[in-house]
Amino acid sequence: MSLANKMQITFPSRSVNESFARVSTAAFIAQLDPTLEEISDIKTIVSEAVTNSIVHGYAEKEGIIAISVYIYENRRVRITVRDRGVGIPDIKQAMEACFTTGSEDRAGMGFTIMQTFSDKLKVRSVPGKGTTVTMEKVLCRKP
Ligand SMILES: Nc1ncnc2c1ncn2[C@@H]1O[C@H](COP(=O)(O)OP(=O)(O)O)[C@@H](O)[C@H]1O
Ligand SMILES: [Mg+2]
Repeated sequence: MSLANKMQITFPSRSVNESFARVSTAAFIAQLDPTLEEISDIKTIVSEAVTNSIVHGYAEKEGIIAISVYIYENRRVRITVRDRGVGIPDIKQAMEACFTTGSEDRAGMGFTIMQTFSDKLKVRSVPGKGTTVTMEKVLCRKP
């Protein structure tokens, strides 16, 4: 899989930066001339992952979130969202639909949404060290 382009951004875990993360990822992907639906899918999955880092990873204290976006040949896009927050003790359980450790206004659907709108989702996490969510999406071929 050969790399065609890449970018990385880092920002503090403030909720005002959630839209920055979503829009800047979409802006970088724009070079592939994605469909409106693909842009919307990518914004959604980035938004879910970044919100998790803000509200769960860094619930107690502000920290740095890093997003890397890699564009490979054949229109494959890989996005990683990393925090150095509290981490997830049981990843399998966290990824189940409707599971949440958040307050009652959280639906527990973030990982399900990330799974639905990406082609591949991988979560790595170490309690006390942080969480990295890796998502891949292959954009459709232009005629
Ligand atoms: N970056 C993260 N750091 C720590 N815990 C996380 C992180 N992302 C997800 N989690 C855990 O996984 C659970 C499920 O996440 P999600 O499916 O997005 O639902 P919700 O955000 O509504 O709780 C969260 O409640 C939290 O316990
Ligand atoms: Mg969530």
